[in-house]
Amino acid sequence: MSDTVLLERKGRVALLTLNRPQALNALNSELLTTLCAHLDTLSEDESVGCVVITGSEKAFAAGADIKEMSDKTYIEMKNADHFGRRFNALKDTKLPMIAAVSGFALGGGCELAMICDFIIASETAKFGQPEIKLGVIPGMGGTQRLTRAVGKAKAMDLVLTGRMMDAQEAERSGLVARVVPSDKLLETALSAAEAIASYSRPTVVTAKEAVNRAFETTLSEGLHYEQRVFYPLFATEDQKEGMAAFTEKRPPDFKHR
Ligand code: CAA
Repeated sequence: MSDTVLLERKGRVALLTLNRPQALNALNSELLTTLCAHLDTLSEDESVGCVVITGSEKAFAAGADIKEMSDKTYIEMKNADHFGRRFNALKDTKLPMIAAVSGFALGGGCELAMICDFIIASETAKFGQPEIKLGVIPGMGGTQRLTRAVGKAKAMDLVLTGRMMDAQEAERSGLVARVVPSDKLLETALSAAEAIASYSRPTVVTAKEAVNRAFETTLSEGLHYEQRVFYPLFATEDQKEGMAAFTEKRPPDFKHR
């Protein structure tokens, strides 16, 4: 596997580090293929309970690789569409994913962070969809996911002006779950991932699917969906264990992690 994405295992957590420092982790086809291959393998591996995706201190990822794209024709871009489709299919992975963002998360970099279940940002993080400056628009979900995350006003502002927003603005806007000092970024993301990986896996998957359902349906349908998936959890050993452990004042020992 190419070294454009590095994989480290930390117990039940997998850490994927984007690794094209010379290009600020721009997402070229080699990197995207490697990332998707890692995620495919990790999602089949029952010993992995959560994935953290990170970049370098200077850049999470500065977008799709402009140099690789610049001479492409319409047909070539259409043929390369499997990247867009594979990328968008990541939203259906059962694997919980956290983006740990430091520095630039622009264009496809911001889109990659948004595909993760949530984003933890360092104080230096900068988010944006600057594609308009290149004569294109976001092409890996930016117009849709950013709008759902921050609302129309802020999404239009970012997509039409191409400006960047800093970590504080991103947190205020609802794009980012937490902002932490740079030197605490990885530690915080890994500790959140460890917590998630320690819980009952079927319950984590159900929780993730239920929250994601909120973006796909009406409130009444979503509430109906939540009830349909909430009650069956009472048929699991892990629900019995979780509640017994609470009553007995001990940590739970979930069977299905
Ligand atoms: N693609 C290819 N190379 C990139 C890149 C990108 N998206 N972003 C940065 N690089 C390269 C630069 O070309 C430079 O390489 P050289 O040293 O060989 O010239 C190297 O990374 C370092 O970058 P800079 O010298 O520009 O660093 P800086 O600190 O001065 O500026 C930056 C940082 C503001 C992020 C600037 O690099 C930049 O604006 N990058 C492009 C951001 C962008 O437009 N992203 C959107 C891409 S399109 C897209 O993503 C489409 C989509 O939705 C799918």
